Amino acid sequence: MKILFATPECAPYVKTGGLGDVSAALPATLARLGHEVHILMPAYRGMKVSGEIGDGVELPPYSHWPAAQLVPVKVATGVTLLLLACPGLYQRPGGPYVDAQGRDYPDNAMRFGLLSRVAAQIGTVHSPVRGWVADVVHANDWPCGLAPLYLAQSRMIAPHEPTAASILTIHNLAFQGVFPMAQADPLGIPHHWRGIDGVEFWGDLSMLKAGIQFADAITTVSPSYAREIQTREHGVGFDGILRARSSRLRGILNGVDRRLWDPAQDALLPHRFTREDLAGKARCKAALQKRLHLPADRDAPLFAVVSRLTAQKGIDLVLDVLPGLLKAGAQLAVLGQGAPELQAALSEAARSHPRQVAVTLGFDEGLAHLIEAGADVFLMPSRFEPCGLNQMYSQAYGTPPVVAPVGGLLDSVTDAGADPAHGTGFVMKSCDAAGLEDALVRALEAWRQAPLWRRLQSNGMARDFGWEDSATQYLDVYQAAMLLADGGAA
Ligand code: ADP
Ligand code: GLC
Repeated sequence: MKILFATPECAPYVKTGGLGDVSAALPATLARLGHEVHILMPAYRGMKVSGEIGDGVELPPYSHWPAAQLVPVKVATGVTLLLLACPGLYQRPGGPYVDAQGRDYPDNAMRFGLLSRVAAQIGTVHSPVRGWVADVVHANDWPCGLAPLYLAQSRMIAPHEPTAASILTIHNLAFQGVFPMAQADPLGIPHHWRGIDGVEFWGDLSMLKAGIQFADAITTVSPSYAREIQTREHGVGFDGILRARSSRLRGILNGVDRRLWDPAQDALLPHRFTREDLAGKARCKAALQKRLHLPADRDAPLFAVVSRLTAQKGIDLVLDVLPGLLKAGAQLAVLGQGAPELQAALSEAARSHPRQVAVTLGFDEGLAHLIEAGADVFLMPSRFEPCGLNQMYSQAYGTPPVVAPVGGLLDSVTDAGADPAHGTGFVMKSCDAAGLEDALVRALEAWRQAPLWRRLQSNGMARDFGWEDSATQYLDVYQAAMLLADGGAA
């Protein structure tokens, strides 16, 4: 099958969160399973890509967009990266979505509109990639949300020409790509699709809604989140349209990229370890304590957070329960960046308790690995979590997680109390400080009983979070969507 995976970020080239990890691992797994996979992403400033570079293709001018080029690079995973080069839109200081000051780029609608436009084009007979038309265009999150709409538009204009099936994956429903409706003109959105049955969302235009309305199939990143987003409580205003398209919506749990996240082979760790021999983990704990200037105390339970610092992730709850952790003699290591008020509160806690709390603000891949390996307990009290990757990494690294009872956390962690024989972590009974406090007390009690803790670690490390199973489920979705798309064209 020819699969075009369209994404605004892909590790290791550019990553702001889990979508970057998924964009690296899922296409590579699909390629390993024998499929032809191209990843379409913008060529941002400073991106380092190594591989076999092919001839660039000039793109025909689309609507109001500046001239652009597609540069194919065949990379080591067997996937072809299609870099969308449009310096006026993508070569900027700052991140993929925001400038160096953290403000959304004012022209994000056009920046990601072009990404979607080109993705759709690659799924038609007018594909700009020589000799290659995608069977499936897999669009990820709001930045690619218009791709299914543009494909539907191509089908309308030329109903007898084959077009790719479109799949939208929602990694986070809270990011909806909302722009003034005036953008519909330069984006070339037909008038008859600007209403409530099209892209309209409270008078504005939502790119995510476009994807939900027009995709042949919709997926999200865990079965529980797929259910939750169809409820008013977690639907962020989209529960109605998601219920209406329920038969096309499926939850597929993300996996762990074992090439990058395997404690037995992790090149970013000072010491490696396995399920059978955890001596290296103890050394990683000492190395982590040293690096963070915490006392190298083996008997102090070390709790850890690696996260975007936002309300979603329940970081305020960690601050709420901090007094209890301090009283219990625990240490807390936090790595993250995000909301200024959370950064300030965490930094203040580290200043007040330098022997127990260490806070590192910023994005640091190496430290993230060392924390997963060196910590005793990983904290993820998210208010909602579409999938979450760190709770899976931490299980693989012998660091049982404490998680909120939501989304992918529910689908990937087995509570030690509910199922002592198979437990891999601690699931909070409620998404609040009391729920976190209770789970922490249980975690501390278990940590003090070495054989019990050893079993928890061992259960987690034995879990198979490989991508193969998820990739196979995506292939089912692609097949089904291709049948539906064919039916639509006929
Ligand atoms: P989300 O995508 O919502 O941020 P996930 O758990 O799916 O959450 O993925 C987060 C990814 O980003 C993980 O790979 C995690 O290790 C990484 N990450 C988050 N914050 C940082 C940070 N400050 N430094 C390094 N890696 C980070
Ligand atoms: C989003 C979600 C996270 C998920 C990731 C990758 O960023 O917040 O839960 O793991 O996407 O799918």
